[in-house]
Amino acid sequence: MSDALPTCLLDGALVPTSAARVSPLDRGFLFGDGIYEVVPCYGGRPFRLQAHFDRFQTGLDALDIPNPYSRARWSGLIQALIAANGGGDMGVYLEVTRGAGRGRDFLPEPDMKPTVFGFCWRLASVRPEQLEQGIVAVTLEDIRWRRCDIKSVALLGPVMLRMEAKRRGADETILIRDARLAEGSSSAVFVVKDGHITTPPASHDRLPSITRLVAGDALAALRLPLAVREIQREELYTAEEIWIASATREVAPVTRLDGRAVGMGKPGLIWRRVFEEYQALKQREAA
Ligand code: PDD
Repeated sequence: MSDALPTCLLDGALVPTSAARVSPLDRGFLFGDGIYEVVPCYGGRPFRLQAHFDRFQTGLDALDIPNPYSRARWSGLIQALIAANGGGDMGVYLEVTRGAGRGRDFLPEPDMKPTVFGFCWRLASVRPEQLEQGIVAVTLEDIRWRRCDIKSVALLGPVMLRMEAKRRGADETILIRDARLAEGSSSAVFVVKDGHITTPPASHDRLPSITRLVAGDALAALRLPLAVREIQREELYTAEEIWIASATREVAPVTRLDGRAVGMGKPGLIWRRVFEEYQALKQREAA
């Protein structure tokens, strides 16, 4: 679980999470008209914050929502939010919606004031059994819209897909579009096949994952080449290793897919090296 910590950020002020209120006419509530980010923080410090800011800005630009704050102001508010909740390792959620209108029109009113919300939760460290057993995943047809590169708060597709994964006894859904790997329902995906580490390229079907970039840095530090190419659905079933990557789960090994073992059915040897390098990289950047 990721229970919200007691203090949140609402429109520039730190307030008790239990008392924070937004208007029901907010377009985030009515239309999912907003952008969000999830930034991992280690030892009270945001990790790869500038990359998260870049993606946040790209999303706001795509929706033509003005960014209410400068990066310096955002950084200050995020630090204050982290400090107010006791620091440590946490996930920080940031959301900007187009704001509340006078009613419900698909077309936004001019000069709307964006709503800003942020909260955080404790990031559980990777559980030992996960290191030993890995993650169970299922493949499902990608039912999401055609601009998955935009980190929009409209997340009904991933919610439905995650519920279906749970019904099938899985922790994550690997999405297939046009018989090819799209991404995880809330993660990027890496596949090790015939000893080659591969990940699909950026496209409108995929969120540009920051953790994927960090994993790329870890691979570069290990001098392991990464091939960026489309991956066919069938390739998943003959892969030696599959990893999912996200801000909250780092790089995690998938050991069962659609009820079959991935490779030897254990976290792979290449994954373990990447995992260790990823931890070292976190330590170095936090120092
Ligand atoms: N989700 N793809 C999708 C669809 C995602 O929702 C996410 C992350 C990623 C990985 O992106 P990143 O490495 O920047 O976290 C890929 C976040 C964690 C979430 O919605 O909670």
